[in-house]
Amino acid sequence: MEIVIQPDAEKAGALAARIVAQVIREKPHAVIGFPTGSTPLGFYTNLVRMHKENGLDFSRITTFNLDEFVGLAPAHPGSYHAYMDRHLFAYVNVDRDRVHIPDGLASDIPSYCRRYEDDIQAAGGIDIQILGIGVDGHIGFNEPTSSLGSRTRIKTLTEQTRRENAADFGSEDRVPHHVLTMGVGTIMESRMVLLLAFGAKKAAIVAQTVEGPVTAMVPASVLQHHPRTTFILDEAAAAKLTKIEYYRYVYDHKPDWQK
Ligand code: PGA
Repeated sequence: MEIVIQPDAEKAGALAARIVAQVIREKPHAVIGFPTGSTPLGFYTNLVRMHKENGLDFSRITTFNLDEFVGLAPAHPGSYHAYMDRHLFAYVNVDRDRVHIPDGLASDIPSYCRRYEDDIQAAGGIDIQILGIGVDGHIGFNEPTSSLGSRTRIKTLTEQTRRENAADFGSEDRVPHHVLTMGVGTIMESRMVLLLAFGAKKAAIVAQTVEGPVTAMVPASVLQHHPRTTFILDEAAAAKLTKIEYYRYVYDHKPDWQK
């Protein structure tokens, strides 16, 4: 795993956007896995800016979002459909026919989830998946004890995760209990993973994920097995890493051919 530590969340979000922009320029038909939450907001602001100022072209990319709340219509302001419109899709030239976000209203959930997996395969697989991380180590909404080989399916949120999401719904009791989420195994098949984590609140789980054992109790820890994963952290989220100076040294001495 590559650990990149940036001075603050703003610079970290800008770096993540530059990496994704590079992928799109090199492969205009790239398949991109998008996250939601508060962490990627600066990342999306930068992508929108690059579209407006530098003509970054989203017209041929295909996108797959990680997750969605069960029972929410796309127009519900708490849905991740609405989030993606609010923060990215309304401002760039993405082709809506190539956008995939799990359908929170799917009636036959198991067959819908199988189709989501099939759609990822049919698109050629995900070239780059961007992730946040929950304070409990979830990626997507794969809560602790999720199978490390899991596929897209319905999951029940922990009470802690529902509390973390309460602000988007006005109160905790309005946060849905269930979600559809790509599985850990689905995420692991992405060719490249960028995980973003900012703030002191994430420092303990980042240290467990990067330097602790691989365990379903910390689903993100399975990324230790992923051949091409980069963590982009701010100083606060990196603060509990015991080998922090080594990670800085490696990044500062990264050979040009690897950049
Ligand atoms: P956050 O959520 O970006 O709002 O902290 C991250 C996550 O739950 O994956």
